[in-house]
Amino acid sequence: MDIRLVAANLAGIETECLVVMSADHGEKQQNSPKLSPNDPALEKAASELIAAGEITGKASETVLLHRPAGLKASRLLVAGAGKAKSFASAEVRKAAGTAIRSLRAKGIKSCVFALPELANGAEEAIRCIVESAFVADFDPDTYRSERKDLSMKEITLAAPAGADQGSLQKALDQARIIGESQNFTRELVNEPGNRLTPTILANRAQAMCKSVGLGCEIMGPDKIKELKMGAFWSVSQGSAEEPRLIVMRYEPSDAASGPVIGLIGKGVTFDSGGISIKPADGMEKMKYDMAGGAAMIGAMRAIALLKPKVKVIGIVGATENMPGSKAQKPGDVQIAMSGKSIEIINTDAEGRLVLADALHYARTLGCTHLIDAATLTGACVVALGMVNAGVFANDEDIYGHFAQAQQRAGEKFWRLPLDSEYQDMIRSGIADIVNSGGRWGGAITAAMFLKEFVEDTPWIHLDIAGVAWMEENKGWITKGPSGIAVRSLVEFVKSYAS
Ligand code: BES
Ligand code: MN
Ligand code: ZN
Repeated sequence: MDIRLVAANLAGIETECLVVMSADHGEKQQNSPKLSPNDPALEKAASELIAAGEITGKASETVLLHRPAGLKASRLLVAGAGKAKSFASAEVRKAAGTAIRSLRAKGIKSCVFALPELANGAEEAIRCIVESAFVADFDPDTYRSERKDLSMKEITLAAPAGADQGSLQKALDQARIIGESQNFTRELVNEPGNRLTPTILANRAQAMCKSVGLGCEIMGPDKIKELKMGAFWSVSQGSAEEPRLIVMRYEPSDAASGPVIGLIGKGVTFDSGGISIKPADGMEKMKYDMAGGAAMIGAMRAIALLKPKVKVIGIVGATENMPGSKAQKPGDVQIAMSGKSIEIINTDAEGRLVLADALHYARTLGCTHLIDAATLTGACVVALGMVNAGVFANDEDIYGHFAQAQQRAGEKFWRLPLDSEYQDMIRSGIADIVNSGGRWGGAITAAMFLKEFVEDTPWIHLDIAGVAWMEENKGWITKGPSGIAVRSLVEFVKSYAS
């Protein structure tokens, strides 16, 4: 997708389609919806539709007008962004994505966005529109034999004349990197288990690292056993597919010696549940159980290209969770790399076993700050549904960094607690801890389990089980892999750059 910047003369732009956003300014006023930017030529072209009540400004609305009077554009698309009072980045992201998806559906290949007037400026509007455009342009139907290419070929951003073109271009370039990296993650998550084994995932990560100049080390069974990663290994032992530990390094020479941020991902390329096998109904979805790992790989790609001055190490534990004669059994006791003993109550609580060793390993590599992402628990989906992902933190300062990052990224996370009282729920009668705290507060007891392995290192845990896969189409995003967390991770890392 080509993206260009031009100085706006909105009435004079020739294009297949000019896109402008509208917001609802309240029912009492006449002609309540207003366009943003406020441009007399656009207002005039849309005036009849506004007067007729066909443009209301409500979120997800798209109204397409052909041969708009007084404009050089062939079409005018008015994309609703909701109530004017709440008109801000999140609404612009959705309206931009919805506009792109509605144009794609019509086979339109290029368009011009009139930059909306956002309180936090034109650069912010560009960031939101460009990132959303990439998100909206993603196709998940990779294996359909007759695919239609609906992709958008060219987007032009019409910025107010007088704005600093250099900083706008920079915002555009950075947003492209982030949008493309999020889609790279989505491509990985979209792959079925037979086409994305742990080995293939590691190869894909390695190729990405090579292409953007990241260090990359891939470890197989021998090294995993040598490191005494008994928790990670126990998950992989039931599968004919070998596990891989993926370590990606971004260590720029201009970064301070610390902090070192560790990005840790769950890369279960298929989760059958193991001996505690899952029901058949819906099991096919467990191909996306590597979404946390894929988010880390996508984030590392973006970080390598954006070059913040801070050290980052990405670690993904990639494995299948399968039943088999060598699979671990309920009741087994495993010794994690840290030395902690774990009684396996349920082999389907495997993500925390993978992360336990990956988190501990990150600490041995010198990470001073940790953030993990995982499709960890069904309980998190019960708690927060498919709107918010869960976030946990053991330190207020690191949580502050994350809260700001998710805000900038326009991603939704809701904080859940880590009170010490929950500790009792993961006590074992034979070992240090159990791997399943039972039914109640399942997202929290899973996080408490991880907490055992980060000890006093500042740490964020993201449970993305409910939002890593969109169950249905939304105006701004297709059903399928969402790429959740990539943007927040990138903003989080940037917040530590010197
Ligand atoms: N991968 C699943 C969690 C999951 C559920 C992801 C739904 C995406 C959608 C995880 O490995 C799992 O099976 N968790 C168990 C834990 C339980 C056995 C303690 C769960 O949530 O049921
Ligand atoms: Mn599981
Ligand atoms: Zn799982």
